[in-house]
Amino acid sequence: MTNNYSEKFEKMKVAGKLASQTLDMITNYVKAGISTEKIDKLCYVYIRDNGGHSAPLYYRGYKKSLCTSLNHVICHGIPSDRILEEGDILNIDVTAIVDGYHGDTSRMFGVGKISVKAKNLIDTTFNSMMNAIKILKPGIKLGDIGYEIQSYVEDKGYSVVRDFCGHGISNTFHEPPNILHYGKKNVGQELKPGMTFTIEPMINAGKYESKLLNDGWTAVTKDKSLSSQYEHTLGITENGYEIFTESVKDCTKPPYN
Ligand code: MF3
Ligand code: CO
Ligand code: CO
Repeated sequence: MTNNYSEKFEKMKVAGKLASQTLDMITNYVKAGISTEKIDKLCYVYIRDNGGHSAPLYYRGYKKSLCTSLNHVICHGIPSDRILEEGDILNIDVTAIVDGYHGDTSRMFGVGKISVKAKNLIDTTFNSMMNAIKILKPGIKLGDIGYEIQSYVEDKGYSVVRDFCGHGISNTFHEPPNILHYGKKNVGQELKPGMTFTIEPMINAGKYESKLLNDGWTAVTKDKSLSSQYEHTLGITENGYEIFTESVKDCTKPPYN
């Protein structure tokens, strides 16, 4: 590659790979009996020992290394002494920084046997993200991404969270543009080669409204319905895209456990 963003892409690939390897590593630990705090600690150590550090730690006063969002938690769940139980669904969201660049990715995990309803929600969330990724190339608009996700998800009777979105990412954690997971075709900013951002749809089994808990971070579904999320960090190339946070062990696809 010889262009003005090849160096940025190389660094984003390194950070993205560490974030996805962290999720690969933690997969076997996500079982009934482990606390979300233990998951946080294991990932903290793994990221540190592999040449990176965790972006969430001390980010805007956040005190953990990653987010663990359980069941009706939409996003930004804080690791705690909560023990995982059979039937829980959990999103683990890891952001690693290596050499100043960020890799941000999250996946769903099922604890033991999960309900068919939960599985369908998780599959739909994953597919909505991948469908949106597959259309990426220079010239399409941000609204096309949102449309792809929203139409697929709503057709199945689920809803797209409005209060949180994907984001530009590179040597800063969150930067413009916002990547909305709902929208209209051919509307919004045009994608250009060299752009790097996340797609991270949060999909609710019930209504899309969210509520922020008193801890100032944890976002839950207002109607207490289940919520699910996947996230990849990617870059726009001359004629398509590159995913920086693909699983090395091929455990990106649901279900993992
Ligand atoms: N990883 C989240 C994202 O996808 C952000 C978490 S910020 C934190 O953008 F402070 F809550 F960790
Ligand atoms: Co993100
Ligand atoms: Co994230």
